[in-house]
Amino acid sequence: MSPYHYPDFKDVLILKFLEKFEKDDPYWEESERAILDRIFDYIGRKEGFRYERCLDAGCGRGRLLWVFRKLFRVITAIEPDGDRFAEAVEMAEAFGMSEKTTMQQVSAEEFASDDRFDLIFCSHVIQHIHTDHVLPLMKNLAHHLSDNGVIALTTCHSTGDVDQYGNNYLQNGTPVRETVSREEFNNLVNSSGVLPVHYFHAEQMMSDFADIGLKTVDFRVFHVAREERDVLRQPDIDNYVNASPDLQQRYGVDMFLLLEKG
Ligand SMILES: C[S@@+](CC[C@H](N)C(=O)[O-])C[C@H]1O[C@@H](n2cnc3c(N)ncnc32)[C@H](O)[C@@H]1O
Repeated sequence: MSPYHYPDFKDVLILKFLEKFEKDDPYWEESERAILDRIFDYIGRKEGFRYERCLDAGCGRGRLLWVFRKLFRVITAIEPDGDRFAEAVEMAEAFGMSEKTTMQQVSAEEFASDDRFDLIFCSHVIQHIHTDHVLPLMKNLAHHLSDNGVIALTTCHSTGDVDQYGNNYLQNGTPVRETVSREEFNNLVNSSGVLPVHYFHAEQMMSDFADIGLKTVDFRVFHVAREERDVLRQPDIDNYVNASPDLQQRYGVDMFLLLEKG
């Protein structure tokens, strides 16, 4: 099999999108930060939770490697793309966490270890993989979860009645986003320069996860789109859109799930 290359080399596309829609607005970062705080809160309150091993599944260039470094005794980070993996190794060094970090260039479906992890963090990965690989990947994460462990998952959220698919690319330097079919999405997962995105229908996803033995213990939508923020004009927008299942269904580019065995 040929080596995997993530379609958005050096995150050029995503950074252009953020520059276009979020320039000078701290909201995007704060919205994600609130999700990370929710993970800290949950595991802090969970009886018998062990701060032994954390797995960052799909760590990319190591953007969030620092988050759990002080809490856990050992961090394992995996990433299939060779260039991004090399950057993550450098990032671990820069964060001064190389000694407690084990890194492997491998996909989350193929990862195999005798270790069991107390926290498995999978941030913004499954929206970019072939639809046939999503449940195998989650099953493999569940397999590597300790009995009292937690999976923290973030991914893209569909505000429609079913899963939706899109692609992102640059046209003369301007970010463009289009809707595509599931088949087109799957054809793009190994492309270059066009980033395919799968927006998951939350209820369907929770039901699929329940079928593989993962129960959802927390669910939030976050990253409300700029144009919707401008219309809603709510000062505490993330709490506002999470106030009811109906609002959660209608808003949020991204979603967050905490999953446990059972
Ligand atoms: C949007 S980036 C997110 C990176 C990082 N988790 C973060 O939040 O900054 C998606 C990453 O998932 C990686 N990836 C793609 N397929 C994967 C798979 N099957 N298993 C694990 N990681 C994968 C990509 O190479 C890419 O680095």
